[in-house]
Amino acid sequence: MLEFSKAQSLRDYNTFGFDVKADLFIKINTSDEFQDLLKTKEWKENKHLILGGGSNVLLTDHFNGLVILDCISGIEIIEENDQSIVVKCGGGENWHQFVLYTLQQNWGGLENLSLIPGTVGAAPMQNIGAYGVEIKDTFHSLEAINLQTAEIEVFNANDCQFGYRESVFKHHYKGEYFISSVTFKLSKVGYHHLHLDYGAIQNVLKDKHIKNPTIQDVSDAVIQIRQSKLPDPAKIGNSGSFFKNPIIDSAQFNKLKEEFPDMPFYELENEQIKLAAGWLIEKAGWKGHSENGVGVHQKQALVLVNYGEGKGKYILNLAKKIQDSVQSKFGVELSPEVNFI
Ligand code: EPU
Repeated sequence: MLEFSKAQSLRDYNTFGFDVKADLFIKINTSDEFQDLLKTKEWKENKHLILGGGSNVLLTDHFNGLVILDCISGIEIIEENDQSIVVKCGGGENWHQFVLYTLQQNWGGLENLSLIPGTVGAAPMQNIGAYGVEIKDTFHSLEAINLQTAEIEVFNANDCQFGYRESVFKHHYKGEYFISSVTFKLSKVGYHHLHLDYGAIQNVLKDKHIKNPTIQDVSDAVIQIRQSKLPDPAKIGNSGSFFKNPIIDSAQFNKLKEEFPDMPFYELENEQIKLAAGWLIEKAGWKGHSENGVGVHQKQALVLVNYGEGKGKYILNLAKKIQDSVQSKFGVELSPEVNFI
């Protein structure tokens, strides 16, 4: 039975905590329910917004249409052998709870991605990543419902065209699919290679005198690092990194490096260089800045925050000013990681 609610506040459904309303709102618990939804007049006569954890959207105004909340749950083992396991997870499951579940089972692969807000279904959309690991590294496949045909289609990693915070669902297939489940291939302990390249992880393990870390130790370290610099959305509204780290060519980089020798950077393939947007924003003077109830987080300049009374449009104004100032100081363009609605 599909139950729509009217003039629903979305405050609890976006991690910025903006109190905008949706004309119509529905929670979807199964793929079948979503397929039924596609036949309704509420779907056919309105524009739509599909939300998972609402951790990567900026709601700038009331939504004059239908908001669909993905609540599809369930975790299922598809196949396993001595070395690995293939596990399927409902799109509406909370990402971090799923990661904790895999750690409890002693399955390795997702430990570096601990404590990322959002749902499992939204994770492949932007190929979530942290501390040297991206979802694409353990991704097996996903099921998505085609909004035109109502058919369930299977996408493998190649089909998803994963890149840095990118997938085919953000571009070519934008607004065309509903991701109902995601399947991962994880390693059994003993066959798992840990990713400890990040200095921050190494420092925490060293402080705790841990020489041979387990996947749980790595997860605990990641949680400690994230909690030390990223604000908890339950206390201060935010959507994690607001901008992507910009990628520039080596000619532009060499000029910048001369002027700013302490600028952090990561070398990519094809002579491309990734810069730290947080550093650029801090050097442009924005760290800790606040205006109209919104601001730039004091411990991590890449995170824009809602102090409680802010509005999405004030975040939008602030983001524009930050982009202009980083452009004029460094000649570098910042692109948002979050989706503006
Ligand atoms: N930095 C500053 N000032 C700041 C923030 C950062 O100088 O205010 C410097 C740091 O000192 C460091 C560099 O910038 O030298 C990079 O900072 P950090 O290691 O904190 O990582 P990040 O580039 O800010 C990225 C991801 C995060 C992810 C971390 C760890 C993006 C856009 N962000 O942040 O992902 O957790 O690396 O891997 O790629 C997210 O996407 O929402 C997110 C939180």
